[in-house]
Amino acid sequence: MAIIGPNGAGKTTLFNLICGAIPPSEGKIYIFGEDVTNLPRYKRVYHGLAKTFQITALFFEMTVIENIILALQGTSKTKFSWWKSVHNNQELLNRAWQSLKMVDLEDKSEAKVKNLAYGDQRLIELIVALASEPRIIALDEPTAGLSMAESGTMIKIIKQLEPDITLLLIEHDMDVAFAVAERIMVLNEGEVIALDTQENIRNNTRVQEIYLGREGNADECRNLKS
Ligand SMILES: Nc1ncnc2c1ncn2[C@@H]1O[C@H](COP(=O)(O)OP(=O)(O)OP(=O)(O)O)[C@@H](O)[C@H]1O
Ligand SMILES: [Mg+2]
Repeated sequence: MAIIGPNGAGKTTLFNLICGAIPPSEGKIYIFGEDVTNLPRYKRVYHGLAKTFQITALFFEMTVIENIILALQGTSKTKFSWWKSVHNNQELLNRAWQSLKMVDLEDKSEAKVKNLAYGDQRLIELIVALASEPRIIALDEPTAGLSMAESGTMIKIIKQLEPDITLLLIEHDMDVAFAVAERIMVLNEGEVIALDTQENIRNNTRVQEIYLGREGNADECRNLKS
């Protein structure tokens, strides 16, 4: 599902509420039927939620493979024995390599994250989020700041995700939202104005009005109708 809407609609606010970065002033947050409203962010991970932020959150001084191993360890049973040499943990290493393969970055495994291109950092961030084997993955504008080619790779990988992982995508790029989401939620001024299939969203007059009625959104509106 993608959450779209014009600037200031409340997309990031909703994302932060779901992930637990800010508390709601009213209402409740449920993950698979369980009330997580009062749970801190890290505890929501145990309910199956993983997320990536608009700003990359990786360990920049460490290598790519180290970042992935750390993420895998963070949610594995051996997380409290991290001081044991990971190089002896073949299973962990295999899983880390599989993840790297998914984003085609095996040749960058020993590079420090800080030396990677921004697009590659975002891809690593995605596999780090996937390391916790989430049931829901929330992505806040995963293609923001990426080149066309990098966006293409990102979309391809998002589409390859296990079908039973729920994807929640915050996006202002309509092309990306329509490329990956089955259902679209449209927010405007803090309110849900539509939650429907792609096709119905395209034909929704209220949605068209919102995108047409604002200056600077003509391009987006064209995308919506095309
Ligand atoms: N449900 C709400 N009720 C009242 N205020 C809200 C609500 N949702 C968001 N806001 C306020 O609206 C402002 C803009 O919200 P937010 O940053 O979430 O928008 P956005 O859709 O992410 O915009 P952008 O596309 O610019 O990133 C914030 O100041 C936020 O506090
Ligand atoms: Mg935002």
